[in-house]
Amino acid sequence: MVKVGILGVGTVGASVAHILESNADILTARAGKEIVVKSGVVKNLAKDRRVNIPLTDNPLDVVDDPEIDIVVELMGGVEEPYALVKKALENGKAVVTANKALLAYHRYELEEIAGNIPLLYEASTAGGIPIIRALRNGLAANHIQSIQGIMNGTTNYMLTKMIQEGAQYDVILKEAQDLGYAEADPTFDVGGFDASHKLLILASIAYGIDAKPEDILIEGIQNITQTDVNFAKEFGYEIKLLGIAKKVDKGVELRVHPTMIPAHSMIAKVDGVMNAVSVVGDCVGETMYYGPGAGGHATASAVIADIVDIVRGNQGPMMGYKRGLESGLTLLPQEEIITHYYLRMEVDDRSGVLAAITRELEKFDISIESMLQQPHNKDSRVKLLFTTHACQEVRIREAIKALKELRCVYGDIVMMRIEK
Ligand code: HSE
Repeated sequence: MVKVGILGVGTVGASVAHILESNADILTARAGKEIVVKSGVVKNLAKDRRVNIPLTDNPLDVVDDPEIDIVVELMGGVEEPYALVKKALENGKAVVTANKALLAYHRYELEEIAGNIPLLYEASTAGGIPIIRALRNGLAANHIQSIQGIMNGTTNYMLTKMIQEGAQYDVILKEAQDLGYAEADPTFDVGGFDASHKLLILASIAYGIDAKPEDILIEGIQNITQTDVNFAKEFGYEIKLLGIAKKVDKGVELRVHPTMIPAHSMIAKVDGVMNAVSVVGDCVGETMYYGPGAGGHATASAVIADIVDIVRGNQGPMMGYKRGLESGLTLLPQEEIITHYYLRMEVDDRSGVLAAITRELEKFDISIESMLQQPHNKDSRVKLLFTTHACQEVRIREAIKALKELRCVYGDIVMMRIEK
């Protein structure tokens, strides 16, 4: 018999306990041993958890219990779970975690501490989709050329409603929160941080890149308006918050931002709270993984897959590469990213304005691909919407700064990246 202790019996923890009990028949058959939860840790013992397992409010009752073989960490946060996971590993216990923030910051230290003790984390990225297994095992033969993923259900739900129903940002955020998908602090979702944690985990497995959220380009969906949505529709794009990892000559681009993508692409059709990840490998070509990125049972499904793997004795380097044998690829500086751009700005509606703007873009060698001028409003100003041919991030950033200095341009210039 294998005994499990759960740190954090919230929605996911309770689902783990329920499924281990209700699906015990197949789990014993698949793992080869019976798996039982010995105890779970909660902050508030007075709250009814609707679970059939002994509860304690002291995490050391789990991490120091010599009878517990596997510690499942579902607490959230970074430093407290780090200390507890470290202690559990030092006590020789295998660990399963769903904690993407913990891994975004400490995955390589934890790999070092774990040594040969299994530390698995399937549920940390895209919830119930077995994307970690796909990358670590199923695609092990491939040099990974790119990963593009919708890795945050809250923002995908919001964007879908904004695009399909013209919904207001605040109303739709509240709806996503009520559905239980949003993080405790919704800035984590709408600001792209949640997705960045997941992208960093995937980028480690794919490329061996050791980067932190602060090192990469992260932009959220806060500035998207119906003007952008309508432009995207007119020009055949969908808008998605994508996590992108792309191998280019000199290194690997890692970025999270709202992205205009062709409406006919597979990932553009992923709506609502669903997640999807497209991975291109040099042998296999494009593969695509789709499913629920959050929710108690879906996330618990991934947690339990890890428990089963540990009981079966399946192992391999935690982050996918044997230490010291990583790909040697490095993170490409943000300024060197090359892509297409969309720009939105408000300008005076008079002769010479367009010429002034295109002159400015010419200085930075930026070529316009398409353009839309929206009709007059009462201030004699118009909205100008452009897309550009591919250019380097540094040039578009400098061009935006210069354009903002022009007297004919008002307020902020909104930029969105386009992936063809
Ligand atoms: N807040 C996350 C989401 C939950 O919306 O996808 C899963 O990490």
